Amino acid sequence: MNSNDRPSAPQAASTPVQRLAVDLAKAYRLLNHGPTVLVSAAHKGRCNVMAAAWNMPLDFNPPKEAVVIDKQAYTRALIDASGEFVLSVPPVALLHQVVAAGSLAGRDLDDKFEACGLRAAAASKVSAPLVEGCLAWLVCRVLPEPAMAERNDHFLAEVVAAWADPAVFSEGRWHIGHDAQRCLHHVAGGAFFATGDPIQA
Ligand SMILES: Cc1cc2nc3c(=O)[nH]c(=O)nc-3n(C[C@H](O)[C@H](O)[C@H](O)COP(=O)(O)O)c2cc1C
Repeated sequence: MNSNDRPSAPQAASTPVQRLAVDLAKAYRLLNHGPTVLVSAAHKGRCNVMAAAWNMPLDFNPPKEAVVIDKQAYTRALIDASGEFVLSVPPVALLHQVVAAGSLAGRDLDDKFEACGLRAAAASKVSAPLVEGCLAWLVCRVLPEPAMAERNDHFLAEVVAAWADPAVFSEGRWHIGHDAQRCLHHVAGGAFFATGDPIQA
């Protein structure tokens, strides 16, 4: 994409994507380039979703992820109650939905997924849902570190399952085919980059 181009107006995929199981040893590659993710969680019939740019892979085996989740976020209350969450990696095509998930307060909504124009799908191993139309999904169980969570809003989790849309990630490698499939990288104030072209060192 030309750097002067703005990402085009997004539409959520209307047909469900296939999901390829990703080897847990390679699950970190789904986030290694720092995309903004959607964090979803569920507890006792309530489920919610928020955007999180502050996330990173932490370890290979077992694979772990870290994510910052503010105390005000309703998603955090559901994570605290369930000990589980899913990180979904959204494409440029979900730009507006990501901004909505990062702006609306789920505590005040009956269904934040619907309010954001997002659809939930059942995950394996956890009650937290996947977000449909995303490129990849990391199913996570919290590794309790209450002091870190209290002081820095920092959550560590083990990745217990990982999935990717085989159109963009297979055999441990990303192969993004068109602009709407690029990942989003939040800078600040609603400004994002889209993942650039691959370069092999
Ligand atoms: C692009 C983007 C990235 C964000 N990244 C984070 C983050 O890393 N951590 C965080 O706690 N909040 C982050 N936020 C803010 C939350 O997504 C926001 O407070 C959200 O409304 C919380 O929703 P909830 O209360 O329904 O859980 C981000 C917002 C946007 C738009």
